[in-house]
Amino acid sequence: MSSVSEPHPDRETGARADAATGSAVSSSGEAGRQANSTNSDSGRGSGRDLLHSDRTFDFSGPMQVWQGFGQDFKELTRRDRQFNFMIRAKDLELDVSHGPILYLEGLNVSFDGFKAINELNLYVNAGELRCVIGPNGAGKTTMMDIITGKTRPDSGSAFFGQKIDLLRLTEPEIAEVGIGRKFQKPTVFEHHSVFENLELAMAADKRVFPTLLARLTGKERDRIDEVLGIIGLQEQAQREASVLSHGQKQWLEIGMLLMQDPHLLLVDEPVAGMTHQEMERTAELLTSLAGKHTVVVVEHDMDFVRSIAKRVTVLHQGSVLAEGSMDEVQNDPRVIEVYLGE
Ligand SMILES: Nc1ncnc2c1ncn2[C@@H]1O[C@H](COP(=O)(O)OP(=O)(O)OP(=O)(O)O)[C@@H](O)[C@H]1O
Ligand SMILES: [Mg+2]
Repeated sequence: MSSVSEPHPDRETGARADAATGSAVSSSGEAGRQANSTNSDSGRGSGRDLLHSDRTFDFSGPMQVWQGFGQDFKELTRRDRQFNFMIRAKDLELDVSHGPILYLEGLNVSFDGFKAINELNLYVNAGELRCVIGPNGAGKTTMMDIITGKTRPDSGSAFFGQKIDLLRLTEPEIAEVGIGRKFQKPTVFEHHSVFENLELAMAADKRVFPTLLARLTGKERDRIDEVLGIIGLQEQAQREASVLSHGQKQWLEIGMLLMQDPHLLLVDEPVAGMTHQEMERTAELLTSLAGKHTVVVVEHDMDFVRSIAKRVTVLHQGSVLAEGSMDEVQNDPRVIEVYLGE
């Protein structure tokens, strides 16, 4: 079993470019990021520098003031420059060249003095299907809340690939860069057909809502058909979502996420309330998504986890307690004590 408390080797060896500032990030964290920001030649940092509240201008004389702003104005209006505040989140480049798609490092979150996340380090490789288990209150959902921007950590860092600093993005921006999340309770549009639900999910991405009266292009129709195939609901395509079984609604919601073509899918307790057959089908579905997508599944049902798991992370009291294959974590005495042996 690998050690779970050490920082990822990338942090030790390589500085990582920071998409939000265009600067390099060294292992010394924020200080390193700021020290390096003047080395940026991409021009993407300049716009943000202008907006920095700690930016000091030289007000020693009116001429200098004019020159100062004149310079900045010239910089701003250069046509060959692209400034950070002009870059849409979806245009940020996802760089997984080092392997991991997700880097969570030294994360801490307290709720009223209670440490829900405690120096959490967790890395997930691109294309992986990772299962996260742990007792109630271990911090699994809070970890997903941090990744999706719902909860801001007190300290630590969260990167999507090498470059995208998730802690600098809003919740909608995080969705735009390609992180989709499925909550436990399905949230489909009950009074629309399965097909329309997928169509609406696609429309939400384009910020045109609703577009049910608009004609679908052939490509869009093909994509909906493809997703209907992936989630196994072709025969239900024209049925109202309200008549679907609980399991089918869960799959439809996964399909709705797939319409946005996310790189990373976070799925919290997908099989709660499902029949055994539905669980098996969900196992197949999530397994089939890995590779093209990265999938992080939080689940309590150990039979289900065993049926899909390659690598399992055990969270306990906001930290990683153990990580490895299902067999490895199952036989880990610490895991048996806090969780599996309960
Ligand atoms: N918004 C919040 N305010 C206060 N406490 C919170 C909040 N969110 C989570 N917590 C607490 O933080 C701890 C971790 O909760 P979290 O929901 O992340 O656990 P979990 O591992 O998902 O548990 P479960 O398996 O029961 O879903 C719990 O003690 C919870 O009560
Ligand atoms: Mg939870």
